[in-house]
Amino acid sequence: MKNGLEDVIAAETQLSDVDGEAGRLVIRGVSLEHLVDDASYEDVVILLLGGLIEGNLQKEELRRRLGHMRTEVFADIRTIDDHILELPPVDIMRALIARLPDGDDLEAALRLLAAPAVFLPAILRLKNGDKPIAPSSSLSQSADILAMLGGGLPSAEKVKALDAYLVTISDHGLNASTFASRVIASTGAGLTSSVLGAIGALKGPLHGGAPGPVLDMLDAIGTQENAKAWLNQALDRGERLMGFGHRVYRVRDPRADALKLALKPLIEAGQVDRERTELASAVEQAALAILKERKPDRPLDVNVEFYTALLLDALGFPRDAFTGVFAIGRTIGWIAHAREQALKGRLIRPRSVYVGPLPRAA
Ligand code: COA
Repeated sequence: MKNGLEDVIAAETQLSDVDGEAGRLVIRGVSLEHLVDDASYEDVVILLLGGLIEGNLQKEELRRRLGHMRTEVFADIRTIDDHILELPPVDIMRALIARLPDGDDLEAALRLLAAPAVFLPAILRLKNGDKPIAPSSSLSQSADILAMLGGGLPSAEKVKALDAYLVTISDHGLNASTFASRVIASTGAGLTSSVLGAIGALKGPLHGGAPGPVLDMLDAIGTQENAKAWLNQALDRGERLMGFGHRVYRVRDPRADALKLALKPLIEAGQVDRERTELASAVEQAALAILKERKPDRPLDVNVEFYTALLLDALGFPRDAFTGVFAIGRTIGWIAHAREQALKGRLIRPRSVYVGPLPRAA
């Protein structure tokens, strides 16, 4: 029995490889640092779905159909009522996605890729008392998300930064939500069921729910001078430092560097709160030194969530929406894995060791 299935190999995949010792992520044969340089969200959809689903995956055609799907699913936001609007954004997304039909074809996949991208900006606006903005089918997915969020055409730097984020987090081996997606796909259920289960797994603070708390931590620390004392006190209380540590990486998470690089043009264009980035940098340095000193047996380094928090904040997403943006990007990974599992895998059905009471003898 392996608690948490640590180091257990439960699938063969051609989609991505996470090398935790070297700190390297390869997505379908391309290293993350090369992929993130010039790939758009649409490029990574084509890369991950290629060979796993029937249909035309040429870039222009995909962009057109995805845009069309965004327009189609926008009608579903009418079903958001006052009761559901009280829930956290990712839970509202989950409720809306649950209404979509199940299916295994390209149409179903594109609907599931478009839906969270349309739902999240609309949910955020409705929560603010603003009217949702309809999608523009002619824009790229990243440009349209930002346009639906804030109105008006986003800057080229912002579109590039969101593309970099969505590409960076598109797939990541057999993480908890992807495993959930594969388990569901292995039963023969459709892609909507897989994506729904995966969203449920993603929202936990140990998986995709960490970046919001990263900003809370930075706010609580407040000044660079306070970093060391605050971090030590948090560890004294037995808390974990959000944005640090990883189940697989024993070195720096390569996605953290990809996102740090993606932030640079925004900083240079004056589109990021400079004070916050300087504070974050000081907190990162202090946390690494303290973790090294206090947890010498466990290499703990920065993970993807630390820079996710800074990047998504700079793009105008409120912190309670960060998990929802993660879901927008990771849906392509969940779908690709679900398809791979459905095409090549077997029903996933491990066994448990019974440690409960024995029946009394008659
Ligand atoms: N801050 C402080 N200590 C940490 C830590 C963190 N962020 N992450 C792990 N540790 C410590 C644990 O307390 C434990 O120490 P102990 O042996 O003295 O009790 C040791 O490192 C091993 O932790 P373990 O729970 O076995 O690691 P894991 O592989 O199960 O955990 C995470 C991985 C990601 C869940 C964990 O690092 C974490 O909670 N990080 C913070 C949340 C986060 O950033 N999540 C996003 C992940 S991408």
